[in-house]
Amino acid sequence: MAKKWDKVLSWNFTEPNVKWFEGAKLNITENCLDRHVETQPDKIAIIWESNDVNVASEHITYKQLHERVCIMANVLKKHGAKKGDRICIYMPMIPQLTIAVLACARIGAIHSVVFAGFSANSLVDRITDATCNIVITSDGINRGGKQIPAKKVVDEALQNCPSVTKVLVANCCNLETQMTAGRDYWLHDEIASITDVNCPAEMMDAEDMLFILYTSGSTGKPKGVVHTCAGYMVYVAYTFANVFKCGNSDVFWCTADIGWVTGHSYIVYGPLLQGATTLMFEGVPTHPDAGRFWAVIDKHKVNQFYTAPTAIRSLMAFGDEWIKPYNLSSLKVIGSVGEPINEEAWNWYHKNIGKEKCPIVDTWWQTETGGIMITSLPGIHPQRAAHAGFPIPGIQPVLLDGAGQELQGNDVEGYLCVKFPWPSILRTTYGDHERCRQTYFSNYKDYYFTGDGARRDEHGLYRIIGRVDDVINVSGHRIGTAEVENAINESEYVIESAVVGYPHDIKGQGIYAFVICKNIDSNHDHIRTDVQETASRIIGKLARPDKIQIVSGLPKTRSGKIMRRILRKVAEGDTTNLGDTTTLLDPSVVEEIIKGAV
Ligand code: PRX
Repeated sequence: MAKKWDKVLSWNFTEPNVKWFEGAKLNITENCLDRHVETQPDKIAIIWESNDVNVASEHITYKQLHERVCIMANVLKKHGAKKGDRICIYMPMIPQLTIAVLACARIGAIHSVVFAGFSANSLVDRITDATCNIVITSDGINRGGKQIPAKKVVDEALQNCPSVTKVLVANCCNLETQMTAGRDYWLHDEIASITDVNCPAEMMDAEDMLFILYTSGSTGKPKGVVHTCAGYMVYVAYTFANVFKCGNSDVFWCTADIGWVTGHSYIVYGPLLQGATTLMFEGVPTHPDAGRFWAVIDKHKVNQFYTAPTAIRSLMAFGDEWIKPYNLSSLKVIGSVGEPINEEAWNWYHKNIGKEKCPIVDTWWQTETGGIMITSLPGIHPQRAAHAGFPIPGIQPVLLDGAGQELQGNDVEGYLCVKFPWPSILRTTYGDHERCRQTYFSNYKDYYFTGDGARRDEHGLYRIIGRVDDVINVSGHRIGTAEVENAINESEYVIESAVVGYPHDIKGQGIYAFVICKNIDSNHDHIRTDVQETASRIIGKLARPDKIQIVSGLPKTRSGKIMRRILRKVAEGDTTNLGDTTTLLDPSVVEEIIKGAV
């Protein structure tokens, strides 16, 4: 920190306006890099494990990482980047991604990482919303046995993104790649052109923006969640140290993609702030086989392993023989994040991966919270399967009833809110502060509303039940139902649609779409394929509906509102108690929908 703060906190949840550490001057990369270069230059900062088992892993020391970040920062400067610019990063899980993120922070540019599974259309929305001027990408993406083009998607997007003037392209797959002269540059050429391996860190105010990360909400348009420099830094460093108990010679592995908040906070910033060794994995859990995670744990002697329930459930389904060749004895703490973990998966994880000796940290948090908010601390708090546990010290969660009253005592269930700010609470939604106020601070006055329902058990441990808004959590990824509906309505066959979530054995929730079609006589399989392809094309593969039911009408009230409650029941396969249907415009539609359920 270049200058200490004058004031720790000022806040109100009405506007909202939250400021932490006002008056402080800092650059997060000095705490991630320079500080460690002084004390432990040769310690490994990043272990990179390739998608391909035959490609050697990379070990990058703090000194090397510092140098590579400085060079990348100088590349960005060479292309005109400066403090406050928004830079879009659309890349696979290669070291250049972490380096690009840190290089932006180094020069005070605001990074907006977009998960590289999103479509060109989603990329356009995000680039345009933040008016990014530079995109950093790669030729392609290695994923399991496939190579997926990335630059091609960027090219398609940039036809509709006039703000972008430069594209920096990492060579990851040796794909033949079209380069637009004057706009597109190979990263390795640009890096080679830099002679200055130092780049002084830009001094930032505590409340200057550090990054934007887009996330889905209950309306059609994703929101750019904004995090700022000092508060985010402090909270992520604090939670990383206390939740994972990562020792000085430990290897920490978070399997998320840096395109999501989990990767920002617990692959990049948290571990590096604490001078830890963070493992970055390019591949997928099932390539070349379903033992890959366990092979990587043994290979690199991973001590803390942090993954998602979807991955746990899918590997559990492959059978225990995939674990047998590995001893996993290096593990000390194992974690779960992104969605509720069911008891069966929790028990399997505890027994087979943690060997009944590793505490499980089931961490509840959100893009908007920046860091972990609720989890039982390993070795300190009691553990209970499928319960995130206690709030992190300093966090004040509450459960509210429908009338907005705080539920007191234990053994209660309600809407999960937080009543006091923590350092990494979102500050705004980019370019639209009113939306931030409405989404998070207007449902219940003077509370931050999470969008989740939760239960506090008889011992005070929290169990997250799931979203109470129109957001589906598919494999730990948030998708708005409205966003999927808008996309599939673009199919040439679809007149109208309604999308809901339903319980899915592996993914937690699946996407169930009810669609009214223009030409019912068309081949239904053909229509379904088109609906799926349209969702993939417009949003990305993660938005493909798992089930599609063609209907002649939707259950609407007289005011034209779709009664999603009914559709959810049908999708869940539980139509015994549909509740009051008397306000429906045409109740006969319900019978048809029940009969045709898929
Ligand atoms: O519904 C909760 C669920 O994921 C949502 C946040 O999603 P996102 O912003 O994409 O961030 C995911 C990674 C932090 C929450 O509103 N969620 C997250 N962690 C848990 C969870 N649900 C249950 N248990 C968790 N541990």
